[in-house]
Amino acid sequence: MSTRILVAYASVHGSTAEVAEAIGKALQKEGCTVDLAVMKSVTSPGDYDAVVIGAPVYMGKMVGDLKKFVGKHRDALAKVPIAAFCVGVAPLGKDPGDVDTVMNIFRTALEPLEPVTVTMFAGKIDMQKLPFMHKWIWKKMDGPVGDFRDWEAIGAWAGDLPGKFGISVGA
Ligand SMILES: Cc1cc2nc3c(=O)[nH]c(=O)nc-3n(C[C@H](O)[C@H](O)[C@H](O)COP(=O)(O)O)c2cc1C
Repeated sequence: MSTRILVAYASVHGSTAEVAEAIGKALQKEGCTVDLAVMKSVTSPGDYDAVVIGAPVYMGKMVGDLKKFVGKHRDALAKVPIAAFCVGVAPLGKDPGDVDTVMNIFRTALEPLEPVTVTMFAGKIDMQKLPFMHKWIWKKMDGPVGDFRDWEAIGAWAGDLPGKFGISVGA
């Protein structure tokens, strides 16, 4: 039976969902069977050989669904290898917060899980799609606007995951 990997994500405006999808595709290319799911809807993450967790950062905090997901499934998730990615604009070198700060917040939100790898990807800001409040905040902060997702880096990170999980694909 092929190696089964769950990619569980949270996303407010859709860009993390697309990153999760790209990670799923890269894992499929490596020979894994992948289920992609909004973390809210996940019921049995312990049924998988490994789990990839992804969430965006907003106003210096991880989206609430992440803590809920980790809290609800901590026992099941403690038994499988985990990799985690967060998405935001911190890697662009502008405010809000630098990558190290966000990564600390992310790692804390993941506790007590101990992922084999944790990373941060640059995300996307589409002003036209933001609701009024987010648009207002972003203008006030003079935040960067555009699609900053580096699909090559995302694919490369995902392609290395089976090795990092220590699972033999296709076995
Ligand atoms: C109101 C608002 C606040 C944000 N706060 C942060 C932040 O504190 N740190 C960061 O790195 N990125 C921040 N971002 C950028 C988002 O994390 C980025 O746009 C991400 O791609 C959003 O993911 P989503 O489309 O899956 O919701 C913020 C974006 C908005 C609109």
